[in-house]
Amino acid sequence: MTALTLSTAAVPGLRADAIVVGVAKGTNGPVVAPGAEAVDAAYDGGLADVLETLGATGAEGEVTKLPAPAGFKAPLILAVGLGAESEKDAGYGSEALRRAAGVAARALFGAKKAAFALPLTEAADAGAVGEGALLGAYSFDAYKENGKDAKGRGGKAPLADVVLLGGKPRDRAYKAAVDRAVAVGEELNRARDLINMPPNDLNPAAFAAIAQDAAKLHGLKIQVLDEKALTKGGYGGILGVGSGSASAPRLVKLSYTSSKAKKHLALVGKGITYDSGGISLKPAGHNETMKCDMSGAAAVFATVVAAARLGLEVNVTGWLALAENMPSGSAVRPGDVLRMFSGKTVEVLNTDAEGRLVLADALWAASQEKPDAIVDVATLTGAMMLALGNRTFGIMANDDAFRGAVHEAATEVGEDSWPMPLPEHLRKGMDSPVADIANMGERMGGGLVAGLFLREFVGEGITWAHLDIAGPAFNEGGPFGYTPKGGTGSAVRTLVRLAELAASGELS
Ligand code: BES
Ligand code: MN
Ligand code: ZN
Repeated sequence: MTALTLSTAAVPGLRADAIVVGVAKGTNGPVVAPGAEAVDAAYDGGLADVLETLGATGAEGEVTKLPAPAGFKAPLILAVGLGAESEKDAGYGSEALRRAAGVAARALFGAKKAAFALPLTEAADAGAVGEGALLGAYSFDAYKENGKDAKGRGGKAPLADVVLLGGKPRDRAYKAAVDRAVAVGEELNRARDLINMPPNDLNPAAFAAIAQDAAKLHGLKIQVLDEKALTKGGYGGILGVGSGSASAPRLVKLSYTSSKAKKHLALVGKGITYDSGGISLKPAGHNETMKCDMSGAAAVFATVVAAARLGLEVNVTGWLALAENMPSGSAVRPGDVLRMFSGKTVEVLNTDAEGRLVLADALWAASQEKPDAIVDVATLTGAMMLALGNRTFGIMANDDAFRGAVHEAATEVGEDSWPMPLPEHLRKGMDSPVADIANMGERMGGGLVAGLFLREFVGEGITWAHLDIAGPAFNEGGPFGYTPKGGTGSAVRTLVRLAELAASGELS
């Protein structure tokens, strides 16, 4: 794991493999961002010209490497693009810094230690650079054990040491920002590990066991309902989805409580460890990445642990609805009717609409404790990907103000999201001749139909939001910013922010 420290060391004497500086897009070519003064001085104030000669423009995502000037202990200067030059003293914005730090960290695979001299105007900027560096320095090597060469990217390991320059190591706000970046960065990376883990190893019982280990480590309360307990409790949705698999389902309740808590936030995650579609089998081309269908549960898990590590003054209960959706002789069939934990009956018309079935039981279970709010997170529909693309999650809610608050929180932490409606007229498409509701409705607006289905399983009077992260949860393209290929850890930062807002009484 990458270590993160604040330092006031002078750049020339700093022992590191690289010094990272920022370069922005000015009106007349690249400009060197604040933080790089000492480096620029060593080039007699000509660093921008040198960078321009090397082809740098300051565009976001751009990396320019140059040998360090004479007298520097570090051999390499790495200039990372920040995008448009900041207006006077306006700063560069947390997300621009986070992305630039992520790009630099990715360009420094194989290096051990790097000092980041990026423009910091406040403590939050140090947190953003730290977070970006930790998230960029991520690789998933657990299944590449055939010698060192197979580790990391192209045989190279991620940065071991990140030093943040330009901050105030003795300032409490800066220290807190770095501690927060470490907790969020590490837990988010752990969520990525879970998502990237192959489904033959991460089945519901294995996920529950990992949660149990984390609970012990962080002093969390945990309750794991296995198939026997689920049967006894009447969790027909989770049992129905899990019935086709040789690996039985689980419902995990993970609780972090603070003696100073005034609010209780419940988080519910879709944890389908593999979604084959079931009897309504997905065709080839649609199932290769379906190990990512537990990304919601991974995000919820990471958030509860991060809340505990940060000692937030709020109670956070995480519900992980874990099942594997497989076809078999014991699998749920299209036409089956399930009796859900809430008592409602559901006609299963398509076994590939399984996420809403496991979530329905977990939402109802979460509702029994009457939390101040429930937020569920799920890779729920392909329709949401069609609507918003693969970098933006959709937000639905039973309360417009709460939906707005979630959108605002996501934007604040640099996650792309967009508010979506729950049009009442789409409800009748789920009317069933035999049950209270069907698990499928109109094809058009499929993401909203799923949201309307979930709404029926939220307890009366409880504020609820639903995040459909099907798009951003898993990156099938190349890495960008601080986002690697594969599991991204989507929604973790938004959920942590929501927990912080609940702790400070700023969440409705
Ligand atoms: N897990 C999928 C949704 C998904 C698709 C997530 C692609 C990530 C990438 C979900 O269980 C599913 O299969 N949804 C169906 C619902 C339909 C049958 C009503 C879908 O979106 O096609
Ligand atoms: Mn499915
Ligand atoms: Zn699914």
